[in-house]
Amino acid sequence: MKILLFLLIFITHFALSDDMGKQLAQDNGCLACHSVKTKVLGPSYQDVAKKYKNDKKAKTMLIQKIKNGGTGNWGNIPMPGHPKIKNEDLDKIVTWILSI
Ligand code: HEC
Repeated sequence: MKILLFLLIFITHFALSDDMGKQLAQDNGCLACHSVKTKVLGPSYQDVAKKYKNDKKAKTMLIQKIKNGGTGNWGNIPMPGHPKIKNEDLDKIVTWILSI
């Protein structure tokens, strides 16, 4: 019975794409420089979500920015590029960030 319960929690956990984006951000080291609520080295994800709330092109732009790295939107500290992360994973991460 315990195993069944664990399995159920496991499946629902990964079925939720929001959670998956968060997990991917964690696995890819994004949270070393970002947190949801407070600025670390990079802007908080809450601020990012607020900034691009009404911007329909934000998702594509942010995916490119995370992939290639860049600076200038939040200050002078550059974000390094992340060329190894798959586009579909970046899509999930950015969807999660913009949903915060
Ligand atoms: C070494 C620190 C560092 C790491 C690691 C890092 N970031 Fe950043 N991130 C930054 C900085 C600094 C900025 C601000 C760049 C700017 O001013 O345009 C930023 C900006 C951003 C933005 C906003 C971009 C914009 O143009 O408004 C997003 C979204 C973002 N990061 C997501 C991520 C994700 C997802 C990861 C993990 C794959 C990640 N970051 C890893 C430092 C980092």
